[in-house]
Amino acid sequence: MSNKAARNLFILGSLFFFAIFLGLTYDTMGKLDKRAPEITEQVNAGKMVWHKYDCIGCHTILGNGSYFAPDLTKATERKPKGYLKRFLMDPKSANPNASMPKLGIRDEEADDLIAFLDWNSKVDTNGWPPKPILAAAGGVAGKELTEGQKLYQSLGCAACHLINGIGGTTGPELTTVGARRDRSWLIGHFKNPEEYVKNSAMPKVEAPEADIEKLADYMITLK
Ligand code: HEC
Ligand code: HEC
Repeated sequence: MSNKAARNLFILGSLFFFAIFLGLTYDTMGKLDKRAPEITEQVNAGKMVWHKYDCIGCHTILGNGSYFAPDLTKATERKPKGYLKRFLMDPKSANPNASMPKLGIRDEEADDLIAFLDWNSKVDTNGWPPKPILAAAGGVAGKELTEGQKLYQSLGCAACHLINGIGGTTGPELTTVGARRDRSWLIGHFKNPEEYVKNSAMPKVEAPEADIEKLADYMITLK
């Protein structure tokens, strides 16, 4: 190859790959904006609170942090905000078995933190981290789900409760709840847990009356 040909190959090759680089950059920048919601003042304030208490010393978020405590990338997707606020301000009041220390987070700081966690939860992370496998929660392999079991799944009860080994451990295990509670207690408790259990951290079940009854009908079969 002559010197001229080599020079042309070098220049054209560089231009070619530079054009690809520009194209991909443009493509990425166009998508980035849409992958995260707007950052409000409260989200910013929440991030400051996040640093103040060194949450990242125990938790991971969006891939950064420590592995001592659960990942919080999708925190507000998994647990209701009312529950989270209470947990942040006093973990043991929301979950008697909690080992997260009471950090002295103030009311306003908790609201800011939740705005920050909510912002993170809404970032499009291409499905990361994988959701816990709760699809089978409440069901029995090979059997079609009842209306009550479907509601149990769609209302996210398994985020806090275990049935036959599947679910979370924030609330009591429900595998044999039908042996402890009757239908009317369950219906009343769903509508207003605090009326039945002092300082309950269970969120009210926001669903039509008919669905609440179907849930209770399902619960009493658990014996
Ligand atoms: C010393 C370690 C530690 C620090 C610091 C810490 N956490 Fe936690 N956190 C935990 C542990 C452990 C859990 C798991 C539940 C439990 O056992 O308490 C947890 C659970 C949580 C949960 C989930 C609660 C649930 O029931 O699903 C949230 C939300 C949370 N932490 C937020 C925070 C935020 C926000 C900060 C900073 C203000 C923070 N944590 C600081 C240890 C920590
Ligand atoms: C954010 C966590 C959380 C979610 C979500 C949640 N619960 Fe609870 N649940 C609790 C806690 C904490 C308790 C214990 C305090 C109480 O009994 O009110 C509880 C108690 C209960 C009890 C009473 C158990 C007993 O032995 O006394 C039942 C039944 C129950 N939950 C069913 C449900 C159903 C059904 C759903 C979904 C619609 C649900 N829970 C969603 C946290 C939660």
